[in-house]
This record gives sequence, C-alpha cells and structure tokens, in this order.
Amino acid sequence: MTTTTIEPKPMTTDEPLILTETDGHVAIIRINRPKVLNALNPALMTMMAEQMEAYDRDDDIYVIVLAGSERAFAAGADIADMAEQSTISMYKRDQFATWERIKKIKKPIVAAVSGFALGGGCELMMHCDVIICSETAQIGQPEINLGVMPGAGGTQRLTRAVGKALAMDVILTGRFLSAQEALDHGLVSRVVPPEHFFTEAMQVAKEMAKKGPIALRLAKEGVLKAHEMSLSEGLEYERKLFYTLFATEDQKEGMRAFVEKRKPEFKGK
Ligand code: HXC
Repeated sequence: MTTTTIEPKPMTTDEPLILTETDGHVAIIRINRPKVLNALNPALMTMMAEQMEAYDRDDDIYVIVLAGSERAFAAGADIADMAEQSTISMYKRDQFATWERIKKIKKPIVAAVSGFALGGGCELMMHCDVIICSETAQIGQPEINLGVMPGAGGTQRLTRAVGKALAMDVILTGRFLSAQEALDHGLVSRVVPPEHFFTEAMQVAKEMAKKGPIALRLAKEGVLKAHEMSLSEGLEYERKLFYTLFATEDQKEGMRAFVEKRKPEFKGK
C-alpha cells in the first residue's frame, strides 16, 4: 500500500483570503480562494471571524453580507488541510472555536450564495440569517464521501431547517440539493437568477439597513432562540426583548414617524 502526503496549497501573500468593502451601513465580506472553490481553511475562518467581530463592534455597520464567487460560495472545509490530521491534532487546533465566534455575531448576516455550498460551506451558509441563493446553487453535506460526517453543525442545523427525512437523505447519501429544493424545504430565503444573486443580497441588506439597528439585532436574537428553547421559554424571551426596545430612541422615532405619516430616521440609540 502506498501512502501519499497531501500538502495544503501554499498561500501567497498577494491573495487575501477574504476581501472586504462597505456600502453605507452594509459591510461585504467575500471569500477569496477561487482556485480551490473557496475551500475554508483555519486561517481564512479566523480572518472571517475577526472581520465579522470588527463589523459587529462598528456602529456604522448594521448588516453584513457574506458572499463567495459565482462558481462557489464555499465547497467545504479544505480537504487537503485536513487529510493528514489526527483526532488529537484536530482536537488541539479546536477550529470550531472560530465557528462559535461567527455564531455569536449579533448583527444580521445575509448570505449571497451561488454555485457550490458544500460541507463546511453549507454549514457556514446556515450560520447566516437571510440566505439569497442563485438558481445555480448546489447545496449539500458530502462529508460522508470522505469517510467523515458534518462537524460544524450540519447534522443539527440542516435537520432543524429541513426536517429529519431530508436531512438524513442529504447527509447519508451526500447528494446535492438544488436551489429550488432548498427553497421548497425552507433552507434558503430566496432563489433568484444567477446574474442577480449578489445584487439581490445587497438589496435585502440595504432594506434591512433602513431599520433600527438595535431592533434588527434583538429580532435576530429572538428568531435564533426559537431553535434553542421550548415555545413557552421562547415566548417569554421574546417579550423581554420586545420590552427592551421601548427603552430605545428608535422605538419612539419609529412609532412617532408612523403617527406623523413620515419616514423614520433610526439612529441606533
Ligand atoms: C480543498 C477543494 C475543495 C475542498 C474543491 N477543491 N473543493 N480543495 N478542499 N473542499 C479544489 C479541487 O481539489 C480542485 O483543485 C479545485 O478546487 C476545483 O475543483 P474540481 O473538483 O476540479 O471541480 P469540479 O470538478 O467542478 O467539482 C466541484 C466539486 C468538487 C463537486 C465541488 O470539487 C468536490 O466534490 N469538492 C469537495 C466537496 C466536499 O467534499 N466538501 C466537504 C469537505 S469536508 P485542483 O488543484 O485539482 O484544481 C467539510 C467538513 C466540514 O467541509 C467540517 C467543519 C469545518
């Protein structure tokens, strides 16, 4: 039997792993490893988490858009990087701590998904709040083909999104869902023609950025709790978030603007 050692592709310094820009109150993060279909390695994930946290702290940013390329949102965790790892080395590198940081981002994240969203790419997509998907998207958890299984939440989030029967089908066979199937089963928010996936995501983000940023954050928190709490606990939690918003200037502005028949000007206060 011959064994081959698989070397991760070298990173060159002139190719940033992520690209960032802002447009008004919207920040855009693009995954940038086109040669490997945006495979997610630990350095990229750390950079992404750091950038998201920076935007989370930035009062001028209300919404984050996370995008890949037309060909791939992300085709999974970097297989070459993982191929020779052991249980202990994986345990020690604790890469899921980085994913936990992304999970804790308070501002809404809009995913702009085109092409492959597989394995860790699908799991990253499911960390986002509103998912705008090109008709070309191919979504799946094909880790089973590699002798492993999802590790960044796939068995949990996919099951909660689409139900046990379809989650088992996708995870145990490794088959890809089309964008339409993903939409039909509540995994993604909207499906649009390929040429519009990014502009639609930006439009959604800009629409959200017109709202009060504190209300956006608390509303996101409320929806996410629906997956973690019983109905009674969740309703109680929601009420507390709702009451909290009456301590904000944005609540006064939003309701007064309605009564005065004008557009509100939210300030995030
Ligand atoms: C590393 C990858 C990659 C990945 C693609 N590439 N996916 N490299 N990790 N996840 C590289 C290929 O090796 C190839 O490099 C280049 O990207 C283009 O890919 P091709 O295979 O030539 O393209 P195509 O024939 O169009 O097939 C596309 C594909 C296929 C169906 C997406 O690449 C594929 O099956 N990729 C792996 C998908 C996967 O199993 N994902 C789950 C990973 S495990 P070269 O050098 O040959 O051009 C995972 C665990 C998550 O995500 C755990 C939590 C972090």
